[in-house]
Amino acid sequence: MLNQLPNCINSSSWWQLIKWISDPIEFQKKCNQKYGDIFSIQLSGLGSYVIIGNPKAIQEIFTQDSKFDIGRANKLARVLIGSNSLMLMDGYRHQRERKLLMPPFHGEKLQAYAEKICLITKQIASQWQIGEPFVVQSTMQKVSLEVILQIVFGLSEGERYQQIKPLLTSWLNMTDSPLRSSMLFLPFLQQDFGKWTPWGRMKSKQRSLNQLLQAEIEEKRAMNNQGKFDVLSLMMTARDENGQAMTDDELKDELLTILLAGHETTATTLAWAFYEIHQNSDVLKQLHEELNNLGENPQPMTIAQLPYLTAVCQETLRMYPVLSGLFPRISKSAINIGGYEFDANTTFMPSMYLVHYREDLYSNPEKFNPKRFLERQYSPSEYIPFGGGSRRCLGYALALLEMKLVLATVLSNYQLSLVSNKPIRMQRRGLALAPKGGVKMVLN
Ligand code: HEM
Repeated sequence: MLNQLPNCINSSSWWQLIKWISDPIEFQKKCNQKYGDIFSIQLSGLGSYVIIGNPKAIQEIFTQDSKFDIGRANKLARVLIGSNSLMLMDGYRHQRERKLLMPPFHGEKLQAYAEKICLITKQIASQWQIGEPFVVQSTMQKVSLEVILQIVFGLSEGERYQQIKPLLTSWLNMTDSPLRSSMLFLPFLQQDFGKWTPWGRMKSKQRSLNQLLQAEIEEKRAMNNQGKFDVLSLMMTARDENGQAMTDDELKDELLTILLAGHETTATTLAWAFYEIHQNSDVLKQLHEELNNLGENPQPMTIAQLPYLTAVCQETLRMYPVLSGLFPRISKSAINIGGYEFDANTTFMPSMYLVHYREDLYSNPEKFNPKRFLERQYSPSEYIPFGGGSRRCLGYALALLEMKLVLATVLSNYQLSLVSNKPIRMQRRGLALAPKGGVKMVLN
């Protein structure tokens, strides 16, 4: 006979929701200390979640993917990305969509994007002025937005590019603090009274974005996509096993999904990487040595294979999860996870924070120590920055490539320092987590 999970937090569900919105990491840390590595929380209006920081239990979830509904559990994101996003799909539809979307993000296609990433970084970094502080998070957002616009949307100039760029930035900035993010979690704030409500303003921007994206799709179709290698063009020519193409609604929702999933996540992780590298002079020194050994003008794909640079990116992703947890997974029937018996319709959320700060896996977990990734291999449930199973991040290879090339390009050409040595905390930004204040640096 298996046990029912006894570890349920018993403060009010409102209080737990406030904690989850305002500081999900501290909330999880406290619950973990008190209740162990599997416990359940109750979020007012959103339901209860079993939070899991136990790698063995996470392994059980990843290997039994088909026993969970994940798209259904991602309902919070529907208001941002529309209902035709793969994040909201399950079963065959999800599998089909992933097959259609996967090729542009992997293999030789990535090599074609590498040069562009270096060029974009150089262009944006060239605007820094000696002695003038800048916010790294904002600069990295410019880089990652440009990468998505050029590589994914296939836009680098023209009137539509000029319109889409500021619109996307202001749409994303509408949820840039814990307070402003609340509207994503509290349905009663989702009132569309035009420009009088934040929700109305956000929805209006979203409608304008959709119109611009529709116009872009139509133009690409009229031009027959000849010789184009951006992700949107590849998505438009992709066919499933029945010869079916993606519909325009699918294309638009997937573009917003990729933008939302890939833009801030990569920018935020890069901001943390710059922060840690410049807090730890030995790390900076080792990176410089590794990069210098490559000689003049190395190939981007050679840079991407550097072991220490790779370890620095892995360690940044370990310490600074971009989400409070992986996508929630709802059990379709009663299930045994981690030695406990759960009913059908239980929602599980594996937590990268809890796993990545386990003393038994990562000694001295609060310390930024890239070498641990050179000394040990972690299993797919011990290291989960990009999730796992059938939901593993679609853009992980592009994200890692972008991180390495941006870091290498900046560190090889510029000498930067942090404006302040004060520790920086994580804070909520929309559905994600980001460094408070965005990490201020200065060019020396
Ligand atoms: C450092 C950057 C990034 C991090 C840390 C990250 C992390 C994640 C995580 C944790 C998930 C959920 C996986 C799960 O629950 O098992 C996910 C899903 C996803 N990510 Fe990323 N991501 C990053 C960058 C990107 C980029 C650059 C793109 C696209 C260009 C992207 C596209 C997606 C998509 C489409 C999904 C949904 C997959 C599905 O539902 O099947 N991500 N990502």
